[in-house]
Amino acid sequence: MEFSTVAGAPEKSRSDCLVIGVFEGSELSEPARQVDKASKGFVSGILKHGDLEGRLGTTLLLHDVPGIAAKRLLLVGLGKRAEFGARAYRDAVRAAVRTLSEGGSASAALYLSRIPLQDRDGGWALLHGVAVAREAGYRFDRLKSKKNGRKGLGRIALHTDDADAGASVERGAALAEGVSLAKDLGNLPGNICTPTYLAKQAQDLARRHKLECQVLDEREMGKLGMGALLGVARGTREPARLIVLHYRGAARKDRPVALVGKGITFDTGGISIKPSAEMDEMKYDMSGAGSVLGTFEAIARMKLPINVVGIIPACENMPGGNAIKPGDIVTSMSGQTIEILNTDAEGRLVLCDALTYAERFEPDTVIDIATLTGACVIALGSVATGLYSNDDTLAHDLLEAGQLSWDRAWQMPLWSDYDEQIKSPFADVANVGGRPAGSVTAACFLARFAHKFKWAHLDIAGTAWRSGKEKGSTGRPVPLLTTFLMQRADAAKALAPLAKKPAAARKRRTGRSSR
Ligand code: BES
Ligand code: MN
Ligand code: ZN
Repeated sequence: MEFSTVAGAPEKSRSDCLVIGVFEGSELSEPARQVDKASKGFVSGILKHGDLEGRLGTTLLLHDVPGIAAKRLLLVGLGKRAEFGARAYRDAVRAAVRTLSEGGSASAALYLSRIPLQDRDGGWALLHGVAVAREAGYRFDRLKSKKNGRKGLGRIALHTDDADAGASVERGAALAEGVSLAKDLGNLPGNICTPTYLAKQAQDLARRHKLECQVLDEREMGKLGMGALLGVARGTREPARLIVLHYRGAARKDRPVALVGKGITFDTGGISIKPSAEMDEMKYDMSGAGSVLGTFEAIARMKLPINVVGIIPACENMPGGNAIKPGDIVTSMSGQTIEILNTDAEGRLVLCDALTYAERFEPDTVIDIATLTGACVIALGSVATGLYSNDDTLAHDLLEAGQLSWDRAWQMPLWSDYDEQIKSPFADVANVGGRPAGSVTAACFLARFAHKFKWAHLDIAGTAWRSGKEKGSTGRPVPLLTTFLMQRADAAKALAPLAKKPAAARKRRTGRSSR
């Protein structure tokens, strides 16, 4: 899908389809009013017949509309004018692109992006217009022998009169590419998307964007003492990998942000095996890893002036003759011993060694992303990602990035009171803490390996994919992470003239959270 901007009057647009918005109560948006005038009341006439009332997300496709240059006209319901904000805008763009993908239009001009939003500016509308449009057109049919042959919607122009709009459109397209990569990796089945495959994808990505990529094998991980990660790897014949990516957009001395993504390419539960119902969905257990690769795709395209390290512990969780058993004790790279009471709590085992490994890059901030607990799905459903952090400023910045990108997170407690639940009589810590607050105790486990940096943990178990009829990866939290990094990069740029007074810049980023 190609994106561009259009500045002229809507009735003059020569695209296959002109898209305009109508508020509830058949109230025309400004571009719609212009089209109504040019068509001598054709649009308001249609509305009077009651074919479209303006309910959010409803659409009406019209042909042969007089007075307009476009071949078709698509009316999109925008909902109540007083409530037209980020959410409604996204829903309207999505609805428009879905309707268009089912029709014969190859190109469209969207006159929705200049309608004032309550809570966002014009640059936001362009960036997210592009990202949402591209997402709405996403298909995963590469494993079907007969592809849907339809050409579909190939070109979309968004309305703006801002001369600098190109940058927002480009960022939107970059974000969309990142989301799409994360979705593809998530949707691929476990027999294709193995740890080796993930490593290959990371290397391809590095080659495309001239990044540095290292892939460690099990022997190298053994030398580092990654007993927790290798404990999980023992049950499967698929060799585990530790994937490390470096994006260098700033000076070498700038301490990086590290993104650590859980890369369990299939989670059977191991010896503590899972019930078979819906177990296929455990192919999505590498969605954290997918989101790291997707975010790298996006920020590399955006050429953000920051340094980012990606670390992906990739492994399959299987039962086997050599697999770890409940009660087994392993020694993590940090030196802490772990009693494995449940082999299905494997995510924290691979992540804890990856967190310790992150220390060598002297990161300013570490964010891990993991489909970590079913308990998080019970707590927050599929709406919000669970956010935990040992630093209040970091938590705040991530929550804000989630709001901005409509890829929202909700902060959960990381109080030391919960540590009681993961005490072990035999080792330094147990890998499970019972049913109560399962998402919190998982985060508390990880916190023990994150003392050396500002750290946040995103539990995406409920948000990374959709189940049921619409089963598929969502690409979350690529928008949140990318927006967080964009904000950082923009802040760094804004502070550049103040570089001589680093104390002022640094002051904002203190405020360790008490546990
Ligand atoms: N990958 C799962 C978490 C998960 C389960 C995500 C269902 C999404 C849907 C994770 O490895 C796991 O199995 N966690 C266990 C932990 C428990 C044994 C303490 C869980 O949540 O049941
Ligand atoms: Mn598991
Ligand atoms: Zn898992």
